[in-house]
Amino acid sequence: MERELALEAVRVTEAAALASAPWVARGSKAEADDAATEAMRSMFRTLAIRGRVVIGEGEMDEAPMLYIGEQVGDGSGPEVDVAVDPLEGTTLVASGMNNAVSVLALAPKGQLLHAPDIYMEKLAVGAELAGKLSLRDPLSVTARKAAEGLGKPLSELNVLLLDRPRHAGMIAELRELGARVRLLTDGDVFGAMMPCGAKTGVDLYVGSGGAPEGVLAAAAIKCLGGEFQGRLLPENEEQRRRLGEMGLADGVLLMDDLVGTGDVIFAATGVTPGDFLEGVRLLPGRRASTHSVVMRAATHTVRYIQTEHDLALKRTAGAVPSLGA
Ligand code: FBP
Repeated sequence: MERELALEAVRVTEAAALASAPWVARGSKAEADDAATEAMRSMFRTLAIRGRVVIGEGEMDEAPMLYIGEQVGDGSGPEVDVAVDPLEGTTLVASGMNNAVSVLALAPKGQLLHAPDIYMEKLAVGAELAGKLSLRDPLSVTARKAAEGLGKPLSELNVLLLDRPRHAGMIAELRELGARVRLLTDGDVFGAMMPCGAKTGVDLYVGSGGAPEGVLAAAAIKCLGGEFQGRLLPENEEQRRRLGEMGLADGVLLMDDLVGTGDVIFAATGVTPGDFLEGVRLLPGRRASTHSVVMRAATHTVRYIQTEHDLALKRTAGAVPSLGA
């Protein structure tokens, strides 16, 4: 894929973030998500790609926009797989909490796993631990290996996971081992990326979350140079049957199973302030600023982009009625 596509990708996540920003702290998850999805879909029309959504807002019969299989782009340019989460952290936006983002990944056709919308068990680490851990190991072994690999005592290992009742056993086990346990309210695309950020203080990401978010996290981590492993967690016979049909019945999915190429682009724009990105800020005179990151796995370039927008002139202005008004 042309590297110029990376900058075009940012315009897509910027549009989605700007559109969802009016819904911050308004208790309306669906409206925030719809606004982001509509703006993202609209901006995709300006991209010179023949894109097909492989990770999106749901199946065609349940999502009117950015559904699995939808064609996006202007119909010219390369054929690409498109993974999107127009609003990652709908609860965060509705409650006015930190770390909501708009996110997408692009890769040549056939290179992103078409993960179904079920849970995935996840393990993510930064570059220093890449290749040293396995999702097949028990958690206690993983924690010990991680501490050893980083040359620190277990008592100084920082492990991050989603704060969910289903993780109570893991949290208790990690505390028993003496590790530091950090809890994330929502948003495990960036959660899984945390061990890759030098300043986050997080060494290891574990626990289960959405499988689509797992593919997006793997794309990001491919660009950042760490490692992500996942295992799909079917909850019933129907899901097990579907996974069997897709050849994904069981087993650990490694980076290359999730993102089968070194030619991937990942872009994200903050909606609310977060550990990696600032949120959308309203400026005087119907202007707003956004903060984004765009990365390419081919070069491991991580580019942060601060943008000022004149909302009066925005193509997606209709979708942001109360911003800067
Ligand atoms: P939404 O933006 O769809 O609300 O997802 C937020 C999220 O926290 C994801 O980042 C994560 O993968 C998933 O929800 C976890 O699911 P659950 O809330 O069921 O534990």
